[in-house]
Formats: sequence, C-alpha cells, structure tokens
Amino acid sequence: MYNIKKITDDLYWVGGNDRRLALFENVYPIPEGVSYNSYVLLDEKTVLLDTADSAIMELFVENVKAALNGRKLDYIIINHMEPDHSASLERIAELYPEARIVTSAKAKAMIGQFFEDFDMDRIDVVKEGDSLTTGRHTLTFVAATMVHWPEVIFTFDTTDGTLFSADAFGTFGALGGNLFADEVNFETEWLEPARRYYTNIVGKYGPQVQKVLQKASGLDIKRICPLHGPVWRKNIGWFIDKYAHWASCTPEDKGVVIFVGSIYGHTQNAADIVASAIADQGIKNVKVYDVSVTDPSYLLAEAFRASHLIFASATYNNEIFSNMEHFLIELKEHALHSRTVAVIENGTWAPQSGKKIRAMLGEMKDMTILDETVSIKSSPKESQRESMYALAKAVADSVKA
Ligand code: FEO
Repeated sequence: MYNIKKITDDLYWVGGNDRRLALFENVYPIPEGVSYNSYVLLDEKTVLLDTADSAIMELFVENVKAALNGRKLDYIIINHMEPDHSASLERIAELYPEARIVTSAKAKAMIGQFFEDFDMDRIDVVKEGDSLTTGRHTLTFVAATMVHWPEVIFTFDTTDGTLFSADAFGTFGALGGNLFADEVNFETEWLEPARRYYTNIVGKYGPQVQKVLQKASGLDIKRICPLHGPVWRKNIGWFIDKYAHWASCTPEDKGVVIFVGSIYGHTQNAADIVASAIADQGIKNVKVYDVSVTDPSYLLAEAFRASHLIFASATYNNEIFSNMEHFLIELKEHALHSRTVAVIENGTWAPQSGKKIRAMLGEMKDMTILDETVSIKSSPKESQRESMYALAKAVADSVKA
C-alpha cells in the first residue's frame, strides 16, 4: 500500500525505509535503518528523480503510481547509479516505456553494465550546465563527480530552488513519518548518523565534495532533497557548514578521543589513566573507545569529529593489535589528515605497536605526532604514572593552545 509525502504542491517523496538491513553496503551497521529517497515532480511533464533499492521495490512502484495518479511518466532522471538507488530502474523503465532516461554519460555506461538488456536508445545524456524544461520548472544539471561515484550529478530545480543532491546531505536512519529535518531532533539524534554516513561513504572524497559545495554556493537553494534521510527546507546553512568541516577534514570539536586495542585490559588501564588525567586538565567530553568493541565506522566518524586522537595498542604477532591496525588502515584509506595524535604501546616481550602506529600515522597528511609517549611491558607500573601524566598534559596543552 502506497506511502508518499508531499514536499511542495507539485513535488512528492516516493521513497521508503529499510529497518531490516543489518549492514549498509554489506559493511556498515545501521541499527537506525536507512531510507531510500526518490521524488516525483508533477509539471506539464512528469519527472521521477532516481529510483530505489530492490528491498523496497514493490512499495516504491506503488508510490510512483500513486504520485502520478494515472498520468504517464515522461522523464526518469538518474543522479546516481549505485544500486541502493538504481536497482528499481529496469522495473520502472518497463512500467513506463515512454519515459526518457536522463543522466550523465558515465551513468549511461553503468546502466549498460548493471542491466544486460536495457534499451540504451532511451537514454539522453546530459552534462554540467544542461537543462530540461518540464513546463513551469527548469531543471539544470550539476556535475558532482566522485561524490562518491564518478557518474554522479545533482539536479537543481531553478524554479523552486530545490537541489536533488544524490548521496550528499544524506544520512543513515529510517524516516519515522516526519520527512523534514526541521521536524526531527536532527542535531541531537541525526547528526551522529549523518556524520558516520558522510565520513565512511563519502569521506575519502573531500576535495571533490568541496568543489561541489563551491558550485552549490552560487545557487539559490531553498530545499535539499538527498537520497537518504530527511529533506532540508530550514537552517540549510547549518548543515552545509557541517559538510564544509567534514569535506575539508576540519575538526568540529577541539577535543580528545582515545582508541584502545587491549587484549587483557592492561592497555585499557593505561588509556583510562591518561583519559582521567586529560579530564583533570580541564578538557571536557574526553571519549574512550575499545576498537574491538565499537565498529570501525563509528570510530572513523569520531576521528573526523575531534581534533586530538590517542592510539593505545597492544603488540600482537609482533605487529599492531589487529583491530587497531584495521582501524588505522581505515583512517588512511579515508584520507584523514591534520590531527594531533599521541601513542601508547604495550608488549610483553617486545613492544612494537608504538613504532608501527607512528609509521602509519606518518603516512597520513599533516599529522602532528606528539613526542610524549608511554611504553608498557605487560601492565602499567607506578613508575610509569609520570609518563602517562606527561602525555596527558601534552595533549591537554595542545587542545587548549
Ligand atoms: Fe546511497 Fe552511493 O548510494
């Protein structure tokens, strides 16, 4: 049974929610679920903007039919070809055989790759600056290459100021009936999943996102319709500012996050002593995460959020404790840069993790690695309390600087 939402007099949300999927992209846990957004514009010509994941295909088809209310579909605009938005394309294209498919050249090639017998003659290729007039509305296309796939375009409705932004400005989280960001507690309940979504999925492509943000700054945007999560119509500048931070890898908070890879709890003990000492220096909201307990996607988002990071790790197989090593690889692959970092190592016969963590951090751009360090053999000793306090003070002083 259909479930559509009105955005303006002639624009409808025709997407759906998935609360059953455990891992988004088969990688990222989404206990909060996810929405797959799609939109129908009812002008003299009718337009469907993107389709939906196969998980909600039946509902999505009903929603499109309901929004069209008996009208034919003239255009299907594909902003992004990742299957969470394009898996239903073939089905919709078959249901509406007269619809022209409007998309980028790279997306056209991907349609041919994903769907074996697709009628490629139905596809009209557009590029940056091209436009499509549908009656009252004029839709212009903005190249959004590598946000976060190469074929991505944004569609901007110059008539009503609506930006259809593909994955940009999206977030994890199924919609709970309220479609608009100003109808939910976005800052307290949605900002964390939005940050985790952005940093993990788009985070590597900060320079490309900055380029598109620069282009978007020249548009008179009145609402943003992303492919996941709430639609923005108020306080858009606040969310764009978050994106500006994330895309430039600028910390949102001057604060400390400690990541711990501990086998029997001794490295954890040292990390907690350091955390306590940092707090005693007046630093608020110090966070400590066990890298074996918290999924790396949450850790990565925290590394993007905070200015100061401490890595405390046991040595394992003469290497960095494997879950910590995996996390560090994630940080490097997502191009984290420009953080102040410190290292705590542990090892029972040959502590190696500190040296190797420093080497990995040294491969990331503009990392300031503090000289103060703590090297533990098996368990922290009273004689080492001074070195732990010295590291804590160095980090706290740097935060305050
Ligand atoms: Fe939501 Fe890149 O797909």
